[in-house]
Amino acid sequence: MLPNALTFARSLLEGRLKAGGRALDGTAGNGHDTLLLARLVGETGRVWAFDIQKQALDATKGRLKAAGADKQVVLVCDSHERLADYIKEPLDAAVFNFGYLPGGDKNITTCAESSIAALEAALGLLTEGGILAAVLYGGHPAGAQESAAVQEWAAALPQERFAVLRYAFANQRNSPPLLLAVEKISKQKQGIQP
Ligand SMILES: C[S@@+](CC[C@H](N)C(=O)[O-])C[C@H]1O[C@@H](n2cnc3c(N)ncnc32)[C@H](O)[C@@H]1O
Repeated sequence: MLPNALTFARSLLEGRLKAGGRALDGTAGNGHDTLLLARLVGETGRVWAFDIQKQALDATKGRLKAAGADKQVVLVCDSHERLADYIKEPLDAAVFNFGYLPGGDKNITTCAESSIAALEAALGLLTEGGILAAVLYGGHPAGAQESAAVQEWAAALPQERFAVLRYAFANQRNSPPLLLAVEKISKQKQGIQP
């Protein structure tokens, strides 16, 4: 069966991240994506994981500790739009799994304005050849607005500098999740002298 948006996003991250790499999880939530990134970069790498809810960061911390993969992770309790205040190194990969915390308060959800500011900041830190994966959920009203705005933002990225992929099932009911994957094209491939 074809992979869903989240599974496909994770396979792109697996293809890109190596031991010693640098990665961002812009929405830590229950820590599944943070743990994946932490495992991929290993103890010589670094992962920054953001969430505005302490409950989410506690769950992420517990998951990382249980897996013995907490040493390489910096947990930040702040909005992802301020990520550049915390990360001063280039990133090989970034993931944003937008929406609300599963099992948490559905009113605390990501929103278009801060999501786009965070995506812009993450792209600014991405290395050439680096990849950003954003999973969007249009099945609830705030999510539908956010998904539309982020898709509009992504479609306007200059094709000389970024390759943008949109991936979703076209015939599923109830607005299935959608993946936007953005790759920063290297200057060499753009034909620019590095
Ligand atoms: C769908 S969940 C993430 C799931 C997570 N990646 C996982 O693997 O379990 C979305 C998370 O985004 C968080 N969030 C909402 N607004 C945020 C913001 N401005 N900055 C950072 N995190 C935010 C929510 O608190 C929630 O935990």
